[in-house]
Amino acid sequence: MPTSMLTFADKKRRHEKIVVITAYDALTAAMVHDAGVDAILVGDSAGMVFAGHETTLPVTMDEMLYHTRSVARGARSAFVIADMPFLSYQCGHDEAVRNAGRFLKEAGAHAVKLEGSDPGLVARLVRTGIPVMGHLGLTPQSIHVLGGFRAQGKTMEAAARLIEQAKALDIVGCFSIVLECVPTSLAAQVTQTVQAATIGIGAGIGCDGQVSVINDLLGLTTGYLPRHAKRYADFFNEGLAAVRTYVDEVRSGAFPSAEHSIESPQANAEKPSVDTTTQ
Ligand code: KIV
Repeated sequence: MPTSMLTFADKKRRHEKIVVITAYDALTAAMVHDAGVDAILVGDSAGMVFAGHETTLPVTMDEMLYHTRSVARGARSAFVIADMPFLSYQCGHDEAVRNAGRFLKEAGAHAVKLEGSDPGLVARLVRTGIPVMGHLGLTPQSIHVLGGFRAQGKTMEAAARLIEQAKALDIVGCFSIVLECVPTSLAAQVTQTVQAATIGIGAGIGCDGQVSVINDLLGLTTGYLPRHAKRYADFFNEGLAAVRTYVDEVRSGAFPSAEHSIESPQANAEKPSVDTTTQ
């Protein structure tokens, strides 16, 4: 059965953990689908782990549409959630609805994710027929207001504010809310308070599910690994070793060997045959 936003509600009700992983291209989407994820998030983290920016702020609509189309092609039956990039939904609800709609209409996404708390916008998107995943806590598009990639909801006031924001998003129909870098106890409290399925990243075990950035999980990074991320493979170093071997083999002449070369049939035909009659 293909997953949908209803899967999130079903799994929350049955206390089954929901698994979400990011992907930015068709091949990775096929891999995470085949591994059995419940949903694929085309995160604007693409701006950092794919495009090499310091933050997610430079990511554009065109870039996110390209990544989402690529993922939708590889995702088979997976539920695809497209992240709305910075300034694609903050400058007015009309523009936000149009941009969100493009992810479903042109790129094959099934839902969108947006950061922060704008219940009026979420209500309008849901009325338009666009399922919405919220995102609270550390919201990377607000990095300069937050003063860096820092944990959120650590004071009583901040925790109370986050709970109110989650309730507001829940009431207007978010099917799910990402909770990023907030204390485990706060995430668990939000999870028990809202109907929407909470998906944690750096928010402890008490959420309804977890999301991880695929590059962190595969070890396909060169720099800093956030404390909450767990590396399950070492793709960067395995790739590095393979490419080094290739470089060495080209330089030494070991590649291409006959096995990887094309023998021309004409060359065979033109080979002089040995004439034994005159001997
Ligand atoms: O952009 C992203 O990948 C995200 C996840 C970290 C939740 O927003």
